[in-house]
Amino acid sequence: MIDRTLTTVDVSSLREERDTLHFEYRGPFGEESTGFVIVWKGQLRAYRNLCPHWSVPLDQDGDVFGPRKRQLFCPHHGARFDPESGRCTIGPPRGSGIEAFDVELDADTGAATILRRVAKLSF
Ligand code: FES
Repeated sequence: MIDRTLTTVDVSSLREERDTLHFEYRGPFGEESTGFVIVWKGQLRAYRNLCPHWSVPLDQDGDVFGPRKRQLFCPHHGARFDPESGRCTIGPPRGSGIEAFDVELDADTGAATILRRVAKLSF
């Protein structure tokens, strides 16, 4: 069984829509990586902090929503991403998306386990 756990973070500070919490984790080859958890439509969503266009951090000074606050936003070339799925809706990486993670919340402790998603195979 593959351990999908990237990290566990305290998300008790996330209370309002668009609240954001950044976290660090180790990638599959031991590289240092960053991600973020957001509140979107009352749900926690987690993503890798990396734009698929030029593989650069998506946030600007911690802000992942940009000026209009309606979608996730890459300031480098103005790409926008659906906060619910991570799919690019406008901009150069259209057709791709930011890497989405699963979130398992322990409501008793306020800790969220961030998990890498497993690709689904069909035969
Ligand atoms: S680097 Fe993000 S849109 Fe180009």
